[in-house]
Amino acid sequence: MQTNLQVKDKTRLHIGIIMDGNGRWAASRGLNRIAGHHAGVSSLRSVAEAAPAMGIATLSVYAFSVDNWRRPADEVAGIMGLLHHYLVFELERLARAGVRLTVIGRRDRLAPDVVAAIAHAEAVTAGGTNLHLRLAIDYSARDAILSAATAPSDGALTRETFARRLGVGGDAVDVDLLIRTSGEQRLSDFLLWECAYAELYFTQTLWPDFSADDLAEALRAYAKRDRRFGGRPECATGSSGNMSNHGEAFGAELPDAACQR
Ligand code: FPP
Repeated sequence: MQTNLQVKDKTRLHIGIIMDGNGRWAASRGLNRIAGHHAGVSSLRSVAEAAPAMGIATLSVYAFSVDNWRRPADEVAGIMGLLHHYLVFELERLARAGVRLTVIGRRDRLAPDVVAAIAHAEAVTAGGTNLHLRLAIDYSARDAILSAATAPSDGALTRETFARRLGVGGDAVDVDLLIRTSGEQRLSDFLLWECAYAELYFTQTLWPDFSADDLAEALRAYAKRDRRFGGRPECATGSSGNMSNHGEAFGAELPDAACQR
């Protein structure tokens, strides 16, 4: 797909997506909520397929939060069934497309077949280099931060080492752009550390209606943003000053001498 995007560092973008609106999409069609989640999986497939050509290296999507356990049991079971189905039946397609799939979040409350499917999918796709697809399942950013903060220390704790404890590092660093669909405008405990300098993009489009074209539109909006990371425009290098987002120096270092005045 031709996107004609003018985005900075086209090979390193990390996009986070809060895939919201499945229930409303289904209700507006007289369908049950699971049908909405099912349609949401199709959107995820289209977006993940389109992402590498748009310069997206990492796509982190919120599939199930720790708070989603509060939903009725049949809906939870339906989402878990879809997740399992996705991990098993999408695997070959993901591997063929060079997608590396990993899962963030707790695993101890997931059914054994889902845990096994995650481990298998992660192993099979480990060599994928076209896209890193991160599914957040039973995920809470606050819980992730809390457990990183309370884990036994194995050396100096810096922003970088802390970020690694959160399961980020390598190509899964700061989120550049966080997209939330369905008109809601909140973070809902998703990637709070990683979104410290994320650009936020909210759209009324319900997740099952969100297409590759909508992703391209979000990226066009992102490309127009002036990312200064707290500095002056001439100092904006694409680094947030914490995790190295585009390969720049890590820590509180300023980009160059002129910007230190
Ligand atoms: C939010 O919509 C969506 C979820 C809580 C689940 C997201 C799940 C999927 C897209 C399907 C499963 C994912 C994979 C990777 C197989 P909502 O139900 O809160 O919608 P509403 O706000 O309209 O009620």
